[in-house]
Amino acid sequence: DFMREMAGLSDMEKQLKSILGITRVLILPQDSDDIPAVKANIGKEAARLLETKFPLYKKIAVTGGSTMAAISKEITADKKDASLQFIAARGGLGEDVLHQANTIASLFAEKTGGAVKTLYLPDHLSAEAYEMMMREPVIKEMMELYDQTEVVVHGIGNAEEIALHRKSSVEEVNRIRNGGAVSEAFGYYFDKEGNVVYRIRTAGIQMEQVQNAPFILAVAGGRSKATAILSYFKIAPPQTTLITDEGAARKIIELT
Ligand code: G3H
Repeated sequence: DFMREMAGLSDMEKQLKSILGITRVLILPQDSDDIPAVKANIGKEAARLLETKFPLYKKIAVTGGSTMAAISKEITADKKDASLQFIAARGGLGEDVLHQANTIASLFAEKTGGAVKTLYLPDHLSAEAYEMMMREPVIKEMMELYDQTEVVVHGIGNAEEIALHRKSSVEEVNRIRNGGAVSEAFGYYFDKEGNVVYRIRTAGIQMEQVQNAPFILAVAGGRSKATAILSYFKIAPPQTTLITDEGAARKIIELT
């Protein structure tokens, strides 16, 4: 629209689409690293876009994080659709409750009148516990839901920040560091080239299942996320829409 043209954001959106190899990018003015309200604006824009998909797509997997939480706050509560199903994209308990995928999926469901499927599991299972867990019927049921997922909504994190924040083991932090991980999305850690260098050992949506979803929405803003966004979009499925801010966009253009 006019305001976007004025701020030169439309031009930047075009540049970002070509840099990231996707067909849709939305940039909100200013930088959420400096102004918290910008994150709320990303949430609002994402909520409006998602709501246009609800009539078409019913199975929606969501991850965690503060940007995802910003979307859940902005989802309108006056239009109910009981056929919607929100699915926690992974079973993490490692982060702040308000920022967990389970909490965010529940909020989406509450507001839209849809159903929710949560998964309460520790973030860091031992190899043995993981093997056993994957054979549990509730986990199998969750995996089948991930196979049917039509929409994935996710944040993109800075690898190191997340590893430290989630009280990861020394071994895990070392693997993330030594592997050169710079980004994280739905439990996968990626290096600058987009190679997976580590994956959190918990039940969650698989990369292949994300790739099969007809619509994917990624939300991440702030110049501090530029390197992480560039890394993740090396492998992001082309049907991904990115909603970001001017701070991240300028930094991405500067880095490329
Ligand atoms: O997986 C991604 C991160 O959890 C994103 O978190 O939106 O709070 O930066 P954030």
